[in-house]
Amino acid sequence: MSAPLPIVRTVAQLRARVGAWRKAGHSIGFVPTMGALHEGHLSLIRLAMARADHVVASIFVNPTQFGPNEDFDTYPRDEARDAALLGGAGCHLLYAPEVAEMYPPGAFTTVTVSGVSEPLDGLARPGHFAGVATVVAKLLNQCAPDIAVFGEKDFQQLQVIRRLVQDLDIPVEIVGGPTARAEDGLALSSRNAYLTPEQRVIAPRLNGVLRETLARLSAGAAVEATEAWATAELLSAGFKSVDYIEARAPDTLARLGPGPAIGVIRVLAAARLGRTRLIDNIGNG
Ligand code: PAF
Repeated sequence: MSAPLPIVRTVAQLRARVGAWRKAGHSIGFVPTMGALHEGHLSLIRLAMARADHVVASIFVNPTQFGPNEDFDTYPRDEARDAALLGGAGCHLLYAPEVAEMYPPGAFTTVTVSGVSEPLDGLARPGHFAGVATVVAKLLNQCAPDIAVFGEKDFQQLQVIRRLVQDLDIPVEIVGGPTARAEDGLALSSRNAYLTPEQRVIAPRLNGVLRETLARLSAGAAVEATEAWATAELLSAGFKSVDYIEARAPDTLARLGPGPAIGVIRVLAAARLGRTRLIDNIGNG
């Protein structure tokens, strides 16, 4: 039986472990998560392991990125299960700080990334990306990895983090990991656990409509009309509401259209199925 995964809970403990590896000339990969791990997270761990000598994962359900009516209190938490999965995947260290370690009394600094944070989830979830940018800036400063891996499922988050790292001169390479999917196309997400069996049948339609949207746009259909078609498709499939399904420029997330889209397209969507908010995206480059 392999040894249990070592867990550290303070910045000082994390820095001591990582510092020893660094002193020995080894490279560090980092995979920040909020726990409730699934195959998508484990694929990010494997990506980090292929690129670095040691891999640190963090689990921190970050309160500052949840809105007042969101699922912070009910977000699934099972550290023992997560640690076993991480250890099984070959991860070397788990960093699992308490809220007071990340946000000690008297902490008042917030990181906001303009531009790329503003549309889409920036409108649907006010304050969300400031919470993400702040915690990710802190985590990267605490761990000081050579590379950090984030899932492409949260495509806007990935672009916010790329911008943040570039603008604040944080010396880390950000690597995007491909979205892991169930066989029927549903993007794996910790929040899929909220779906009822009936909703789980409808959920893959989000990926299906994204695919059809990209195909239509790639064939020269007008952006605005295609987005309207896609919204109607999701609603008729049984989604309760659609926050957005929009074609954007991948790097800046600037709007495309209203006519045919030229060049590289990323279509991003967020839609609600019962109490579950699902997001997904697809691109052609
Ligand atoms: O994607 C997530 O799990 C979170 O948003 C992150 C990047 C760990 C920040 O809390």
